[in-house]
Amino acid sequence: MSQLFSPLTIKDITLRNRIGVAPMCQYQAVDGVAQPWHMSQLGSKAVGGAGLVIAEATAVLPEGRITPACMGLWNDAQVEALKPIIAFIKQQGAVAGVQLAHSGRKGSSAPPWLGGQQLTDEQGGWHTMGPTNTPFDDDGTRLWKAPHAMNQTDIDEVQNAFVAAAQRAINAGYEFLEVHCAHGYLLHSFLSPLVNTRTDTYGGDLKSRAKMLLDTTSKVRAVWPQGLPLAVRLSMTDWVDGGLSVQDNIQVATWLKELGVDLIDCSSGGATPAARGSINGGIAQQVGMAADLRQSTGLMSMAVGEITQAKQAENIIASRQADIVLLARAMLRDPYWPTHAAQELGVEITQVMPPLHQFFIGR
Ligand SMILES: Cc1cc2nc3c(=O)[nH]c(=O)nc-3n(C[C@H](O)[C@H](O)[C@H](O)COP(=O)(O)O)c2cc1C
Repeated sequence: MSQLFSPLTIKDITLRNRIGVAPMCQYQAVDGVAQPWHMSQLGSKAVGGAGLVIAEATAVLPEGRITPACMGLWNDAQVEALKPIIAFIKQQGAVAGVQLAHSGRKGSSAPPWLGGQQLTDEQGGWHTMGPTNTPFDDDGTRLWKAPHAMNQTDIDEVQNAFVAAAQRAINAGYEFLEVHCAHGYLLHSFLSPLVNTRTDTYGGDLKSRAKMLLDTTSKVRAVWPQGLPLAVRLSMTDWVDGGLSVQDNIQVATWLKELGVDLIDCSSGGATPAARGSINGGIAQQVGMAADLRQSTGLMSMAVGEITQAKQAENIIASRQADIVLLARAMLRDPYWPTHAAQELGVEITQVMPPLHQFFIGR
């Protein structure tokens, strides 16, 4: 009996299996509006058998995008474009989720394949904001802009935008919401001592640095339906001496649990250039962090990072290191990864195949 393919009920929703598609920026939106590309990318993963499909970092404000081609949920046109995509994901038996995000001082960038450097205003970029006015790359080699150091008005505006975007996510039909507090984007940049050197109520010890995340999450929880799961993605370690540790994040997760958060998505890195490489290397260790978090807090955990093999994923769930495995690059390589994993693990294929596929190729 496969644990990977056992259903998971979280509050009022049930995932058909424990396989989720990790949020992945597609850099294909126009004015934050989803395009046919998104139907193809997200829809194919649902057809392929995933239990949960989490859409990319979706900006709560235009300046909260990473690139000009990132998705957004700051207006109703964006909701309308998402509705048929989400409906399709549901028709295929998967749960549709979204990651709400603000890019902070790492916004206004080019897509990775065009270099990922920050864009000038002439190139379609914008002024960024962060906990302080220190740029992401303060050695000047990549010429990142100095962000505007956020005041209380800015903070209120961003938190209200998270709330409004969560309400739009409900209207669009999403049933799973993840707050992005990882990879050096706005909420993580407030949490990390490598970035946040403020001396007001938003800076100082861990609890003060967590205030931005906790207040934002609390406001989102107040509007996000109680019966639907709320997750937070944390960078479980900053990978840099003096940065956030796994223990720090376990404490933060405990506070998040008190606010009604259901799951933690355990990623890492990204706060500073020194912590950057770890997004692409060494991240297999994140599975152990998900296990620590689950054990210490009693929260559900999502493991992510270099999960590519069916038996590896099965073992993560069976050994209770995580409740859900999230796959990113493996799903880009093979949207039918869950179908192939089911075949490899000897699981009844009807669990993951649409009826047409089942009839013609499922036996
Ligand atoms: C194309 C691409 C886009 C990504 N976009 C996001 C994103 O929007 N939000 C996020 O938290 N992580 C993002 N990530 C990171 C993934 O969610 C995941 O944590 C990381 O790729 C490690 O998982 P993997 O080894 O299965 O690829 C992205 C990764 C890729 C490859």
